[in-house]
Amino acid sequence: MTARPFAAPLDLGNVRLRNRFVSAPMERNYCEVDGTMTDEYIAYLERRAAGGAALVFTEASYVRADGKGRVRQMGVDVDERIPGIAKMAEAIHAQGALVGVELNHGGRTAQSSVSGFVPVAPSPIPCAVVGGGMPEQLDGDDIEHIIECFGEAAARCQQAGVDVISLHGGHGYLIHQFLSPAYNHRDDEWADPALFVNKVIDAVRAMAPGIALGLRFSAFEAVDGGLDAETTRARIDAIATDRLDFLDVSAGNYESGQWIIQPGEWPRGLLAPFSEPYTRDFDLPVGVAGRISSPEVAAQIIESGQADFVSMARTLHADPDFPNRALDGGRYRPCIACNYCI
Ligand SMILES: Cc1cc2nc3c(=O)[nH]c(=O)nc-3n(C[C@H](O)[C@H](O)[C@H](O)COP(=O)(O)O)c2cc1C
Repeated sequence: MTARPFAAPLDLGNVRLRNRFVSAPMERNYCEVDGTMTDEYIAYLERRAAGGAALVFTEASYVRADGKGRVRQMGVDVDERIPGIAKMAEAIHAQGALVGVELNHGGRTAQSSVSGFVPVAPSPIPCAVVGGGMPEQLDGDDIEHIIECFGEAAARCQQAGVDVISLHGGHGYLIHQFLSPAYNHRDDEWADPALFVNKVIDAVRAMAPGIALGLRFSAFEAVDGGLDAETTRARIDAIATDRLDFLDVSAGNYESGQWIIQPGEWPRGLLAPFSEPYTRDFDLPVGVAGRISSPEVAAQIIESGQADFVSMARTLHADPDFPNRALDGGRYRPCIACNYCI
Protein backbone atom coordinates (compact mmCIF):
# COMPACT_ATOMS: atom_id res chain seq x y z
CA MET A 1 0.00 0.00 0.00
CA THR A 2 1.32 3.45 -0.86
CA ALA A 3 1.43 5.59 2.25
CA ARG A 4 -0.78 8.42 1.08
CA PRO A 5 -3.14 7.41 -1.74
CA PHE A 6 -5.43 10.24 -0.59
CA ALA A 7 -2.82 12.83 -1.63
CA ALA A 8 -3.42 12.30 -5.36
CA PRO A 9 -5.58 14.83 -7.22
CA LEU A 10 -8.85 13.71 -8.79
CA ASP A 11 -10.95 15.20 -11.58
CA LEU A 12 -14.69 15.58 -11.08
CA GLY A 13 -15.92 16.68 -14.49
CA ASN A 14 -14.12 19.89 -15.31
CA VAL A 15 -12.73 20.58 -11.84
CA ARG A 16 -9.74 19.08 -10.06
CA LEU A 17 -9.69 18.08 -6.39
CA ARG A 18 -6.30 18.75 -4.80
CA ASN A 19 -6.63 15.52 -2.79
CA ARG A 20 -9.26 12.89 -2.00
CA PHE A 21 -10.72 14.48 1.15
CA VAL A 22 -14.20 15.93 0.72
CA SER A 23 -16.02 17.85 3.43
CA ALA A 24 -19.44 16.19 3.30
CA PRO A 25 -22.75 18.03 3.48
CA MET A 26 -23.61 18.51 7.15
CA GLU A 27 -26.61 20.44 8.42
CA ARG A 28 -25.46 23.23 10.67
CA ASN A 29 -28.54 25.43 10.76
CA TYR A 30 -26.37 28.56 10.86
CA CYS A 31 -28.13 30.67 8.18
CA GLU A 32 -30.75 33.38 8.62
CA VAL A 33 -34.33 32.18 9.05
CA ASP A 34 -35.00 33.13 5.42
CA GLY A 35 -32.10 30.90 4.26
CA THR A 36 -29.59 33.72 3.68
CA MET A 37 -25.91 32.89 4.23
CA THR A 38 -24.29 34.23 7.42
CA ASP A 39 -20.70 35.09 8.33
CA GLU A 40 -20.89 32.41 11.03
CA TYR A 41 -21.62 29.71 8.48
CA ILE A 42 -18.99 31.06 6.07
CA ALA A 43 -16.39 30.90 8.86
CA TYR A 44 -17.38 27.30 9.62
CA LEU A 45 -17.04 26.20 5.98
CA GLU A 46 -13.91 28.27 5.35
CA ARG A 47 -12.25 26.52 8.29
CA ARG A 48 -12.77 23.17 6.55
CA ALA A 49 -11.10 24.53 3.45
CA ALA A 50 -8.18 25.88 5.49
CA GLY A 51 -7.80 22.43 7.04
CA GLY A 52 -6.97 20.94 3.67
CA ALA A 53 -10.24 19.49 2.33
CA ALA A 54 -10.23 19.53 -1.47
CA LEU A 55 -13.96 20.23 -1.82
CA VAL A 56 -16.23 21.72 0.81
CA PHE A 57 -19.93 20.99 0.53
CA THR A 58 -22.61 23.08 2.17
CA GLU A 59 -25.41 21.43 4.07
CA ALA A 60 -28.44 20.17 2.13
CA SER A 61 -29.97 23.38 0.81
CA TYR A 62 -33.57 23.79 -0.22
CA VAL A 63 -34.54 24.65 -3.77
CA ARG A 64 -38.14 25.56 -2.90
CA ALA A 65 -39.45 26.93 0.39
CA ASP A 66 -41.79 24.00 1.09
CA GLY A 67 -38.77 21.69 1.00
CA LYS A 68 -37.09 23.39 3.96
CA GLY A 69 -36.43 21.08 6.89
CA ARG A 70 -34.58 23.22 9.46
CA VAL A 71 -35.36 26.70 10.74
CA ARG A 72 -31.98 28.18 9.76
CA GLN A 73 -31.22 25.90 6.81
CA MET A 74 -29.40 27.35 3.82
CA GLY A 75 -31.73 28.34 0.97
CA VAL A 76 -31.03 28.51 -2.75
CA ASP A 77 -34.66 29.17 -3.59
CA VAL A 78 -34.56 32.82 -4.66
CA ASP A 79 -32.06 35.19 -6.30
CA GLU A 80 -31.65 37.17 -3.05
CA ARG A 81 -29.50 34.29 -1.73
CA ILE A 82 -26.86 34.69 -4.48
CA PRO A 83 -24.64 37.39 -2.88
CA GLY A 84 -24.24 35.37 0.35
CA ILE A 85 -23.40 32.21 -1.55
CA ALA A 86 -20.89 34.17 -3.64
CA LYS A 87 -19.21 35.48 -0.47
CA MET A 88 -19.00 31.92 0.87
CA ALA A 89 -17.55 30.65 -2.41
CA GLU A 90 -14.92 33.38 -2.40
CA ALA A 91 -13.87 32.55 1.18
CA ILE A 92 -13.50 28.84 0.39
CA HIS A 93 -11.63 29.49 -2.86
CA ALA A 94 -9.20 31.75 -0.99
CA GLN A 95 -8.17 28.67 1.01
CA GLY A 96 -7.47 26.69 -2.15
CA ALA A 97 -10.53 24.42 -1.99
CA LEU A 98 -13.46 23.95 -4.31
CA VAL A 99 -16.98 24.73 -3.16
CA GLY A 100 -19.99 22.50 -3.62
CA VAL A 101 -23.67 22.97 -2.82
CA GLU A 102 -25.95 20.06 -2.08
CA LEU A 103 -29.35 20.75 -3.62
CA ASN A 104 -32.37 19.29 -1.88
CA HIS A 105 -36.10 19.28 -1.34
CA GLY A 106 -37.28 17.63 1.86
CA GLY A 107 -40.60 16.30 0.49
CA ARG A 108 -42.43 14.37 3.23
CA THR A 109 -39.67 15.10 5.76
CA ALA A 110 -40.28 18.88 5.60
CA GLN A 111 -42.79 20.03 8.21
CA SER A 112 -45.13 23.04 8.14
CA SER A 113 -44.04 24.00 11.67
CA VAL A 114 -40.62 24.77 10.15
CA SER A 115 -41.29 25.72 6.52
CA GLY A 116 -44.70 27.36 6.93
CA PHE A 117 -46.02 25.22 4.08
CA VAL A 118 -47.93 21.96 3.87
CA PRO A 119 -45.35 19.29 2.95
CA VAL A 120 -45.54 17.74 -0.51
CA ALA A 121 -44.51 14.25 -1.57
CA PRO A 122 -44.93 11.63 -4.30
CA SER A 123 -47.53 9.91 -2.10
CA PRO A 124 -49.32 11.02 1.10
CA ILE A 125 -47.17 9.14 3.61
CA PRO A 126 -46.29 11.12 6.74
CA CYS A 127 -42.88 11.01 8.38
CA ALA A 128 -43.49 10.46 12.10
CA VAL A 129 -39.80 10.87 13.02
CA VAL A 130 -39.94 14.60 12.26
CA GLY A 131 -43.49 15.40 13.33
CA GLY A 132 -45.81 13.39 11.14
CA GLY A 133 -47.45 16.17 9.10
CA MET A 134 -49.55 14.63 6.33
CA PRO A 135 -48.01 15.58 2.97
CA GLU A 136 -50.10 16.53 -0.03
CA GLN A 137 -49.62 14.28 -3.04
CA LEU A 138 -47.86 16.27 -5.77
CA ASP A 139 -49.67 16.70 -9.08
CA GLY A 140 -47.79 16.62 -12.39
CA ASP A 141 -47.59 20.41 -12.77
CA ASP A 142 -46.13 20.86 -9.30
CA ILE A 143 -43.60 18.08 -9.89
CA GLU A 144 -42.48 19.89 -13.05
CA HIS A 145 -42.22 23.11 -11.04
CA ILE A 146 -39.94 21.52 -8.43
CA ILE A 147 -37.75 20.15 -11.23
CA GLU A 148 -37.49 23.70 -12.60
CA CYS A 149 -36.61 24.93 -9.09
CA PHE A 150 -33.67 22.48 -8.96
CA GLY A 151 -32.47 23.91 -12.29
CA GLU A 152 -32.90 27.52 -11.17
CA ALA A 153 -31.09 26.81 -7.88
CA ALA A 154 -28.18 25.29 -9.79
CA ALA A 155 -28.05 28.38 -12.02
CA ARG A 156 -27.91 30.60 -8.90
CA CYS A 157 -25.03 28.52 -7.57
CA GLN A 158 -23.16 28.79 -10.84
CA GLN A 159 -23.70 32.55 -10.89
CA ALA A 160 -22.31 32.71 -7.33
CA GLY A 161 -19.08 30.93 -8.33
CA VAL A 162 -19.90 27.46 -6.96
CA ASP A 163 -17.84 24.69 -8.61
CA VAL A 164 -19.84 21.56 -7.87
CA ILE A 165 -23.49 20.61 -7.42
CA SER A 166 -24.48 17.43 -5.62
CA LEU A 167 -28.11 16.37 -5.92
CA HIS A 168 -29.34 14.88 -2.68
CA GLY A 169 -30.78 11.61 -3.87
CA GLY A 170 -30.55 9.82 -0.51
CA HIS A 171 -31.49 9.99 3.17
CA GLY A 172 -35.22 9.83 2.44
CA TYR A 173 -35.62 13.28 0.88
CA LEU A 174 -37.76 14.02 -2.18
CA ILE A 175 -35.55 12.50 -4.91
CA HIS A 176 -35.16 9.37 -2.76
CA GLN A 177 -38.92 9.31 -2.10
CA PHE A 178 -39.58 9.06 -5.84
CA LEU A 179 -36.97 6.26 -6.12
CA SER A 180 -38.35 4.20 -3.24
CA PRO A 181 -41.20 1.67 -3.37
CA ALA A 182 -41.88 2.48 0.29
CA TYR A 183 -42.77 6.11 -0.49
CA ASN A 184 -43.75 6.23 -4.18
CA HIS A 185 -47.15 4.56 -4.56
CA ARG A 186 -48.16 6.47 -7.68
CA ASP A 187 -49.92 5.00 -10.67
CA ASP A 188 -49.22 7.81 -13.16
CA GLU A 189 -46.03 8.42 -15.19
CA TRP A 190 -44.17 9.39 -11.96
CA ALA A 191 -44.49 5.80 -10.77
CA ASP A 192 -41.35 5.36 -12.90
CA PRO A 193 -38.89 5.75 -10.01
CA ALA A 194 -36.03 7.32 -11.98
CA LEU A 195 -38.10 9.82 -13.97
CA PHE A 196 -37.98 12.61 -11.39
CA VAL A 197 -34.22 12.51 -10.81
CA ASN A 198 -33.50 12.16 -14.52
CA LYS A 199 -35.56 15.27 -15.22
CA VAL A 200 -33.76 17.09 -12.40
CA ILE A 201 -30.43 16.15 -14.00
CA ASP A 202 -31.71 17.48 -17.35
CA ALA A 203 -32.85 20.74 -15.71
CA VAL A 204 -29.52 21.31 -13.95
CA ARG A 205 -27.54 20.52 -17.09
CA ALA A 206 -29.72 22.94 -19.10
CA MET A 207 -29.68 25.80 -16.59
CA ALA A 208 -26.15 25.46 -15.17
CA PRO A 209 -24.23 24.12 -18.15
CA GLY A 210 -20.69 23.07 -17.43
CA ILE A 211 -20.98 22.90 -13.64
CA ALA A 212 -19.65 19.66 -12.17
CA LEU A 213 -22.70 17.60 -11.20
CA GLY A 214 -23.05 14.51 -9.06
CA LEU A 215 -25.56 12.46 -7.16
CA ARG A 216 -25.47 11.52 -3.50
CA PHE A 217 -27.57 8.47 -2.76
CA SER A 218 -28.24 5.86 -0.11
CA ALA A 219 -26.90 2.43 -1.06
CA PHE A 220 -29.87 0.94 0.81
CA GLU A 221 -32.75 2.21 2.93
CA ALA A 222 -32.96 -0.46 5.64
CA VAL A 223 -36.74 -0.08 6.07
CA ASP A 224 -39.49 -2.60 5.38
CA GLY A 225 -40.62 -2.36 1.77
CA GLY A 226 -37.83 0.08 0.92
CA LEU A 227 -34.78 -0.15 -1.32
CA ASP A 228 -32.17 -2.76 -0.50
CA ALA A 229 -28.70 -2.83 -2.07
CA GLU A 230 -29.88 -4.78 -5.10
CA THR A 231 -32.92 -2.63 -5.90
CA THR A 232 -30.90 0.54 -5.31
CA ARG A 233 -28.41 -0.70 -7.88
CA ALA A 234 -31.25 -1.22 -10.37
CA ARG A 235 -32.39 2.37 -9.71
CA ILE A 236 -28.90 3.77 -10.27
CA ASP A 237 -28.67 1.73 -13.48
CA ALA A 238 -31.86 3.50 -14.64
CA ILE A 239 -30.47 6.97 -13.85
CA ALA A 240 -28.66 8.99 -16.53
CA THR A 241 -25.29 8.59 -14.84
CA ASP A 242 -23.61 9.31 -18.18
CA ARG A 243 -24.75 12.90 -17.57
CA LEU A 244 -23.11 13.01 -14.13
CA ASP A 245 -19.54 13.70 -13.03
CA PHE A 246 -19.51 11.69 -9.78
CA LEU A 247 -21.47 9.53 -7.37
CA ASP A 248 -21.33 9.79 -3.57
CA VAL A 249 -22.49 6.78 -1.57
CA SER A 250 -24.22 7.03 1.79
CA ALA A 251 -27.06 4.98 3.32
CA GLY A 252 -30.37 5.08 5.16
CA ASN A 253 -33.36 7.38 5.40
CA TYR A 254 -35.19 9.17 8.22
CA GLU A 255 -36.83 5.92 9.37
CA SER A 256 -33.37 4.28 9.56
CA GLY A 257 -31.33 7.27 10.68
CA GLN A 258 -28.64 5.08 12.21
CA TRP A 259 -27.49 4.37 8.67
CA ILE A 260 -27.21 8.09 7.80
CA ILE A 261 -25.23 8.94 10.94
CA GLN A 262 -23.68 5.70 12.09
CA PRO A 263 -23.12 5.01 15.80
CA GLY A 264 -19.59 5.05 17.16
CA GLU A 265 -19.77 1.35 17.98
CA TRP A 266 -20.00 0.52 14.27
CA PRO A 267 -16.78 -0.08 12.33
CA ARG A 268 -14.94 2.73 10.60
CA GLY A 269 -15.51 2.92 6.86
CA LEU A 270 -18.43 0.51 7.09
CA LEU A 271 -20.11 1.70 3.88
CA ALA A 272 -17.06 1.12 1.66
CA PRO A 273 -18.18 -2.40 0.65
CA PHE A 274 -21.33 -0.75 -0.73
CA SER A 275 -19.49 1.87 -2.80
CA GLU A 276 -17.11 -0.73 -4.23
CA PRO A 277 -19.46 -2.12 -6.94
CA TYR A 278 -20.24 1.41 -8.14
CA THR A 279 -16.54 2.32 -8.26
CA ARG A 280 -15.87 -0.85 -10.21
CA ASP A 281 -18.79 -0.72 -12.66
CA PHE A 282 -19.31 2.99 -13.38
CA ASP A 283 -16.99 5.15 -15.39
CA LEU A 284 -17.23 7.94 -12.79
CA PRO A 285 -15.38 8.98 -9.65
CA VAL A 286 -17.21 7.54 -6.63
CA GLY A 287 -17.08 8.77 -3.05
CA VAL A 288 -18.16 7.12 0.18
CA ALA A 289 -18.97 8.35 3.70
CA GLY A 290 -19.42 6.72 7.07
CA ARG A 291 -17.03 6.83 10.02
CA ILE A 292 -13.98 7.47 7.85
CA SER A 293 -12.19 8.91 10.82
CA SER A 294 -8.58 7.85 10.47
CA PRO A 295 -6.01 8.34 7.69
CA GLU A 296 -5.47 4.56 7.68
CA VAL A 297 -9.11 3.83 6.89
CA ALA A 298 -9.21 6.55 4.20
CA ALA A 299 -6.01 5.18 2.64
CA GLN A 300 -7.30 1.63 2.70
CA ILE A 301 -10.58 2.57 0.99
CA ILE A 302 -8.84 4.49 -1.80
CA GLU A 303 -5.92 2.13 -2.25
CA SER A 304 -8.18 -0.92 -2.48
CA GLY A 305 -10.42 0.77 -5.06
CA GLN A 306 -13.55 0.77 -2.90
CA ALA A 307 -13.94 4.50 -3.61
CA ASP A 308 -12.07 7.34 -5.32
CA PHE A 309 -12.69 9.95 -2.63
CA VAL A 310 -13.85 10.00 0.99
CA SER A 311 -16.70 12.18 2.27
CA MET A 312 -16.29 13.19 5.89
CA ALA A 313 -18.71 15.09 8.11
CA ARG A 314 -18.17 14.47 11.84
CA THR A 315 -14.49 13.70 11.18
CA LEU A 316 -13.95 17.31 10.06
CA HIS A 317 -16.25 18.71 12.73
CA ALA A 318 -14.00 17.06 15.34
CA ASP A 319 -10.88 18.40 13.62
CA PRO A 320 -11.06 20.51 10.45
CA ASP A 321 -7.29 20.04 10.10
CA PHE A 322 -7.71 16.28 9.66
CA PRO A 323 -6.85 16.38 5.90
CA ASN A 324 -3.66 18.37 6.45
CA ARG A 325 -2.63 16.13 9.35
CA ALA A 326 -3.33 13.01 7.29
CA LEU A 327 -1.17 14.49 4.54
CA ASP A 328 1.74 15.49 6.81
CA GLY A 329 1.43 12.59 9.24
CA GLY A 330 0.75 14.85 12.22
CA ARG A 331 -1.56 14.44 15.18
CA TYR A 332 -5.28 15.11 14.85
CA ARG A 333 -8.31 14.96 17.12
CA PRO A 334 -10.30 11.87 16.15
CA CYS A 335 -14.10 11.87 15.84
CA ILE A 336 -15.47 9.51 18.51
CA ALA A 337 -19.04 9.74 17.15
CA CYS A 338 -20.30 11.35 20.36
CA ASN A 339 -22.80 13.04 18.02
CA TYR A 340 -22.86 16.31 19.96
CA CYS A 341 -22.53 17.91 16.51
CA ILE A 342 -26.14 16.91 15.82
C1 LIG B 1 -25.15 16.77 12.12
C2 LIG B 1 -25.16 16.09 10.77
C3 LIG B 1 -25.83 16.67 9.72
C4 LIG B 1 -25.82 16.07 8.46
N1 LIG B 1 -26.41 16.71 7.39
C5 LIG B 1 -26.32 16.18 6.16
C6 LIG B 1 -26.81 16.90 5.03
O1 LIG B 1 -27.26 18.04 5.12
N2 LIG B 1 -26.74 16.28 3.82
C7 LIG B 1 -26.19 15.04 3.66
O2 LIG B 1 -26.13 14.54 2.53
N3 LIG B 1 -25.69 14.36 4.71
C8 LIG B 1 -25.74 14.90 5.94
N4 LIG B 1 -25.18 14.22 6.99
C9 LIG B 1 -24.49 12.94 6.76
C10 LIG B 1 -23.00 13.16 6.56
O3 LIG B 1 -22.72 13.84 5.35
C11 LIG B 1 -22.21 11.83 6.53
O4 LIG B 1 -22.59 11.07 5.42
C12 LIG B 1 -22.37 11.01 7.80
O5 LIG B 1 -22.37 11.82 8.94
C13 LIG B 1 -21.27 9.95 7.93
O6 LIG B 1 -19.99 10.53 7.86
P1 LIG B 1 -19.13 10.88 9.21
O7 LIG B 1 -18.98 9.60 9.95
O8 LIG B 1 -17.86 11.48 8.72
O9 LIG B 1 -19.95 11.85 10.01
C14 LIG B 1 -25.17 14.82 8.26
C15 LIG B 1 -24.50 14.24 9.34
C16 LIG B 1 -24.47 14.86 10.58
C17 LIG B 1 -23.70 14.23 11.70
